[in-house]
Amino acid sequence: MEIKIERAKTLKIKPDQNHLGFGQYFTDHMFIMDWDKDIGWHDARIVPYGPIAMDPATMVLHYAQETFEGLKAYRNPQGQILLFRPEMNARRMINSNKRICMAELPEEMFVEAVEALVKYEQDWIPTAPDTSLYIRPFMYASQPGVGVHPANSYRFIIILSPVGAYYPEGVNPVKIWVEDEYVRAVKGGTGFTKCGGNYAASIAAQVKAEQNGYTQVLWLDGVHRRYVEEVGTMNVMFLINDTVVTAALEGSVLPGVTRDSIIHILKDMGYKVEERDLSIDELMEAGRTGQLKEAWGTGTAAVISPIGELCYKGEKITIHDFKTGPLTQKLYDTLTGIQWGRLEDPYHWTKVIK
Ligand code: COI
Repeated sequence: MEIKIERAKTLKIKPDQNHLGFGQYFTDHMFIMDWDKDIGWHDARIVPYGPIAMDPATMVLHYAQETFEGLKAYRNPQGQILLFRPEMNARRMINSNKRICMAELPEEMFVEAVEALVKYEQDWIPTAPDTSLYIRPFMYASQPGVGVHPANSYRFIIILSPVGAYYPEGVNPVKIWVEDEYVRAVKGGTGFTKCGGNYAASIAAQVKAEQNGYTQVLWLDGVHRRYVEEVGTMNVMFLINDTVVTAALEGSVLPGVTRDSIIHILKDMGYKVEERDLSIDELMEAGRTGQLKEAWGTGTAAVISPIGELCYKGEKITIHDFKTGPLTQKLYDTLTGIQWGRLEDPYHWTKVIK
């Protein structure tokens, strides 16, 4: 792929690495590439970061044909740049795009574009503990027009943001609100995709959770409002006695890259992992009787986030005395050790950008 480069005339002053927060700062350049029905992908370019002009009739603004991804670049102790399983993000974007009838970007082009931009912006990869460069590829229907049908043109963009922890709690336990009024997804819908509309639909419940003093929402399935699916920005896992239980991927749950990685690590550690329906009644009962030993969320942004409390219909369950449990900590240490290149990577998940 030929990538044209236009360098920014002035470069930004980089933020303090110890106070990055999440998604607050953006680097000097972005990657853009366009797709047209007649010619396919064309005009790959790295250009100065900045606003994109849009016709008011641009279809994404009306019918929400938009998908996105999230992955990170890390600096290892030897100073190399690492990506973590970028091909999984590429494949997930293809699956998301298939579902909402958008152009597909081949896996190799996705990875090449990510590598090119990250390499160009490598001075922005932070090195303070627990920081990384968050990579946000996204695509949208760029054709102007009113009428609901697949667009004739799409635009793919990648922006980069140096980040710290996603939650203000950092790696300390979060409080989770079990949502029993709003639903996120149903089988046959778009729950398994990373499309902007899924997140728009989730905001009302997120606001409600925050108003009640909770960090995130635990979604129940959209038909019975009974089976545990995922948390706002992460998949979720529960250690019940000696078994780890998480929702199966049956169409309404996001196939998380971190979820998949943690399942591999758990199985290699000798844990039994069950991907199955887990009813909220079973979960609350396990909490009441002390069988629910630990709970955590998994996600690229959130990494591994311990869950210290669940609130369902007014009943509160505290998990592991609202402290990070030993298994959660071990998973965090193993995963982040591999991602930041501090531990050996027996899975060959990390990719050095040359
Ligand atoms: C991620 O984990 O990368 C996400 O996209 C979650 C979120 C920030 C919406």
